[in-house]
Amino acid sequence: MKGSLVWQIRQSFPKLPPSSVVIYDRILGRKNFFQKWVASYPSHAVRGGESLKSIDAFPQNIRKILKLTQDLEKPILVGVGGGSVGDFVGFCASVLRRGCPLIHIPSTWLSAIDSAHGGKTALNVDAKNQIGTFKKPLKVFLVRELLESQPERRAAEALGELLKMALLDGGGWFEKVRNALPEASSSFLLSRFLREAIQGKYRIIEKDYLEISGGRRVLNLGHTLGHVLEVSHSLPHGVAVYMGLWMSVEWSLQKKFLSQREYKKVRSFFQTRIFQKSFKEVQKRKLSPRKFLFLLGKDKKRVKGQKIDFVFLKGIGRPYRYAVSFLSLLKECQRQGWVKE
Ligand SMILES: NC(=O)c1ccc[n+]([C@@H]2O[C@H](COP(=O)([O-])OP(=O)(O)OC[C@H]3O[C@@H](n4cnc5c(N)ncnc54)[C@H](O)[C@@H]3O)[C@@H](O)[C@H]2O)c1
Ligand SMILES: [Zn+2]
Repeated sequence: MKGSLVWQIRQSFPKLPPSSVVIYDRILGRKNFFQKWVASYPSHAVRGGESLKSIDAFPQNIRKILKLTQDLEKPILVGVGGGSVGDFVGFCASVLRRGCPLIHIPSTWLSAIDSAHGGKTALNVDAKNQIGTFKKPLKVFLVRELLESQPERRAAEALGELLKMALLDGGGWFEKVRNALPEASSSFLLSRFLREAIQGKYRIIEKDYLEISGGRRVLNLGHTLGHVLEVSHSLPHGVAVYMGLWMSVEWSLQKKFLSQREYKKVRSFFQTRIFQKSFKEVQKRKLSPRKFLFLLGKDKKRVKGQKIDFVFLKGIGRPYRYAVSFLSLLKECQRQGWVKE
C-alpha cells in the first residue's frame, strides 16, 4: 500500500462519496463546524473511549449501524473520532457485509499521527485489544480545523508518540523537532510535524503491513514499560510511552548500543514539563517487582519463554530489536528507579 495515496492533510472537511455513513464521537457534536458538515450525511453518534471498544457494547452498536446501512447498496463507513472510534469503526467495516470500504477522519493528535494509519482494528474482550482485524482504509483525511480544535491537554498526551516517530525515523526532522522542543507548545509540535510523523510511520509499515516479517514491531519502541505504566499508574497512553522511551534510551546506552554522542542528542527530548512532571510522579510511586512482572507477562510482544522482544536504539533512526529476559528487564527497571529493589 502506498501510504501517500491514502492520506491527505486538509484545512477543512472533505465532501464524502455517495453512500457514506458517518460514525462519530458525540463530543464533536458540540462543535459548530462539525455539526454543519455532518448534517449532510446519515450518521450515528457514539461515546468515544475504551467502553466503545468493549465486546459487550458491540451488539447494540452494530445493530444501529446495520439499520443505518440497510437500504444502501454499497455503504462506506466513515469514522470520525480518536483512536477508540477508529478501532471500532475499522472493525465494523471489516465485518459489515463481509467487508465494506472505510474512511478515517481522526479527531485526536494520537489518532492523526498513529492509530488511523496502518490498518489495525481492535475490540476489547476483558483486556485491551484482544481481537481485531487488518482493514486498510480507503482514505485517511487529516482535517486541521478539527485537529486544532482539541484542548492542549490532548496534544501533551500525544507528544510521546511524536517523539517516538522522530527517534525511529531520524533524518532531518529529528533535528528540527529537537530545536523546536524547548520553546514550542505540544500542539504546535504536533501540527508542525504531522506530515513527517505520518510519513515515518508509513515508511515502517509498508515493509511489513500484516506484521509477518516483524519489521513493523519497531513501532513498539517505548511501549514495553509504557504499557506497564499505563495500567499501573493510569497514565494516558502517550505519556506512558514517553516514559518508556526514556527507559529504552537509557538501557541502550547502558548496553553500549547507543553512543554517548547520540545519547546527548536524544537527552534533550526529555526536558519538557510534561515529561518531568510525570517522571517525578512515577518515581515517587515505584512498582513492586511482583506487580511489574505480572503486568509484563500480559505484553503481546512476549516471545518464547520468559522473554520479550524489546526495542533498543543503536542511533537516531536506527532501532534494534533484541529479545531480553523478564529478569534482565526487571533489573534494569530497578537500576533506573521504576521498580522497588
Ligand atoms: N489501531 C492502532 O494502530 C492503534 C494505535 C494506537 C492506539 N490505538 C487505540 O487508540 C485509542 C486511543 O486513542 P485516543 O487517545 O485518540 O483516544 P479516544 O478515542 O478514547 O479519545 C480520547 C478522548 O478525546 C475525546 N476527543 C476526541 N476527539 C476530540 C476533539 N477533537 N476535541 C476534544 N475531545 C476529543 C474523546 O471523546 C475521548 O474522551 C486506544 O483505544 C488505543 O488502543 C490504536
Ligand atoms: Zn502507542
